[in-house]
Amino acid sequence: MGIITCIEDLRRLAQRRVPRMFYDYADSGSWTESTYRANQLDLQAIRLRQRVAVDLSRRSTASEMIGQPVSMPVALAPTGLTGMQHADGEILAARAAAAHGVPFTLSTMSICSIEDVAAATRQPFWFQLYMMRDRDFMADLIRRAKAAGCSALMLTLDLQVLGQRHKDLKNGLSTPPRPTLANLLHLATRPGWCLGMLSTPRRTFGNIVGHAQNVSDLRSLSVWTAEQFDLTLNWRDIEWVQQQWGGKLILKGILDAEDARRAVDSGAEALVVSNHGGRQLDGAPSSIAALPGIVQAVGDRIEVWMDGGIRSGQDVLKALALGARGTLIGRSFLYGLGAMGEAGVAQCLEIIRKELDTTMALCGVTQIEQIDRNVLWGDASGSSTSSAFS
Ligand SMILES: Cc1cc2nc3c(=O)[nH]c(=O)nc-3n(C[C@H](O)[C@H](O)[C@H](O)COP(=O)(O)O)c2cc1C
Repeated sequence: MGIITCIEDLRRLAQRRVPRMFYDYADSGSWTESTYRANQLDLQAIRLRQRVAVDLSRRSTASEMIGQPVSMPVALAPTGLTGMQHADGEILAARAAAAHGVPFTLSTMSICSIEDVAAATRQPFWFQLYMMRDRDFMADLIRRAKAAGCSALMLTLDLQVLGQRHKDLKNGLSTPPRPTLANLLHLATRPGWCLGMLSTPRRTFGNIVGHAQNVSDLRSLSVWTAEQFDLTLNWRDIEWVQQQWGGKLILKGILDAEDARRAVDSGAEALVVSNHGGRQLDGAPSSIAALPGIVQAVGDRIEVWMDGGIRSGQDVLKALALGARGTLIGRSFLYGLGAMGEAGVAQCLEIIRKELDTTMALCGVTQIEQIDRNVLWGDASGSSTSSAFS
């Protein structure tokens, strides 16, 4: 592979370096993948308004997310099994994010534990929580996140049941993993990945094994996870989480204005307009299509962020233009990680920052706060809504 200039280059390199079953786990959506595709396609369909002869000498992508200064309004999304894209993946991504001045979110379903990441980094990170039925385990997880100095808790609401991804079933990616023979043989073509894995002790769900009652190995883990995602989750449970946590709360997985209003009532600082990267409800609208309605409903009462399909700085600008105050990236950083470890995540962030900066300049804006619908072509008055995303 020659010089890397865009996220697509990182994706292609990751595809060559990460074993098929883990690459497929990242690069797939549920069922027909229509929502997965729509996330990117709908962003690409938005046109920008080119402006000229604006003083561009002082530009900055710096902003804030829930009061925290960020070098650009882009955080790393929580992603499960990140330590399988690359050995110690969560630690490496957290370090790259800290060096770049953007937040990192650690998933409940990470390979490196909360304590592993805290020990390896100096910047506070965010912790993402799934609602589990074992409330003692939940309370303990929240306590561990507090003890590790996590500066926000992100509660994910869109995964009470799991969307089906065909590739994962075909690859045998389950708990415990049952890789097909073809996938095991395929490992021989990924020697760098295998060496990395052999050199780290972190190869299972670090937040769970050894912490949840009676979970000590892969078999007991599989029994535990199968019964833990809480089908009874409702808005009262969110109050319970907030009481245990007592800090900044972010609600993730909102796609509907009605749910967004409930999110405001819950006292959260931010909500993330998200369809889980097209991995849950296939047939749901893209995140960018759902964003304006939610901003209109609650944007003056809570920070509205969005994720899904962001593969460039132009995409970040488009989300901001439609009212998001921040964005999260999932696969973009996972591809960087799979391609080149910490350096790949750093490169992903640098690519997106540069693209955002240049796109702002060509649209004639110099500060993040100036970005609104005026940067969109065909939507220039700020109130007229001729674009498909009103
Ligand atoms: C491989 C993978 C694993 C994920 N695991 C989690 C998770 O553990 N918790 C969570 O809240 N979201 C999870 N997500 C969803 C991401 O947080 C985010 O919403 C999504 O990736 C955004 O879309 P994008 O990948 O197109 O940027 C995962 C996404 C991917 C791709």
